[in-house]
Amino acid sequence: MPSLFSPLALGALELPNRIWMAPLTRCRAEEGHVPGPLMAEHYAQRASAGLIVAEATMAMEGHSAFWHEPGIHSQAQVNGWRLTTEAVHRAGGRIVLQIWHGGRACHPLLNGGRQPVAPSPIAISGDEVHTPEGKQPYVVPRELGDDEIPPIVEGFRRAARNAMAAGFDGVEVHGANGYLLDQFLRDGTNRRSGPYGGPIENRARLLLEVLEAVAEETPLMGLRLSPINSFNDMADSDPIGLITWLARRLNDLPLAYLHLMSGDFLGRQQGDVLSPARRHFRRGAPLNAADPATFYSPGPAGYTDYPTLPAA
Ligand SMILES: Cc1cc2nc3c(=O)[nH]c(=O)nc-3n(C[C@H](O)[C@H](O)[C@H](O)COP(=O)(O)O)c2cc1C
Repeated sequence: MPSLFSPLALGALELPNRIWMAPLTRCRAEEGHVPGPLMAEHYAQRASAGLIVAEATMAMEGHSAFWHEPGIHSQAQVNGWRLTTEAVHRAGGRIVLQIWHGGRACHPLLNGGRQPVAPSPIAISGDEVHTPEGKQPYVVPRELGDDEIPPIVEGFRRAARNAMAAGFDGVEVHGANGYLLDQFLRDGTNRRSGPYGGPIENRARLLLEVLEAVAEETPLMGLRLSPINSFNDMADSDPIGLITWLARRLNDLPLAYLHLMSGDFLGRQQGDVLSPARRHFRRGAPLNAADPATFYSPGPAGYTDYPTLPAA
């Protein structure tokens, strides 16, 4: 990996190396899903990464999928995250926040008795969730009405705005690993009809609406997808078709990066989702043609004046 330690421009950020810390839920938030000084210390210890993607963080209230995961919907949470962003920046690092909604992976015992919501009323089977009352099976979620979608999009927008207020360098939208946005994308969990179900362009509608809203709030937006990850009891009849369609369509959005999980946590599903994504989601810019007449000549011409791509 000859370029691992060379810098990389990511939007307006200059990353000193290409080692990124993957988002890792560690469930260390304090009461009220508020990040505290322990989390600030954890992230500051890792500030030499080119970029830290901070763990999945609740975009909106009442959709907790892990005991003690952080949120970014209250002022106390914004203030708490500020400890982390300041500590990471003081240590010379850069950090973006992964924002999410757990969908059917949420549990009533983590949410004051509230039933989780999802595209379709299908429970996660074959796994259990940690709750204050021990490990529990997942419950059948309530199918969201189409009229309940706009408040979710607005929740992601507010979360992105809050993340910037908390001092993050950007936001990663969590469209992976079987949580709400991924539940809409894949046909194993999305059996809806209407504008948010059926063909890929409908199943992707919520994700695209969220990305459009988030892009208005942050100068640096990334997206994580995991088309063949079966974690959280996820499946799709055509993961290659899904990633191909998305990779093409995502070119229309101001994404700083696409964070694609190429494999399956549980090793059940195989498939090359990376190649179609690479083929269809790239900047697509032509390489400059070299001007040999300037190779051994003085001055800036043909030396420092080759056109560069504008920062994404
Ligand atoms: C403890 C733990 C917590 C994780 N939390 C998140 C998370 O919050 N968001 C996310 O997108 N992925 C999460 N992941 C997935 C990791 O980011 C990563 O993709 C996974 O560990 C596979 O690593 P690999 O791609 O290097 O094999 C988590 C994984 C582990 C083991």
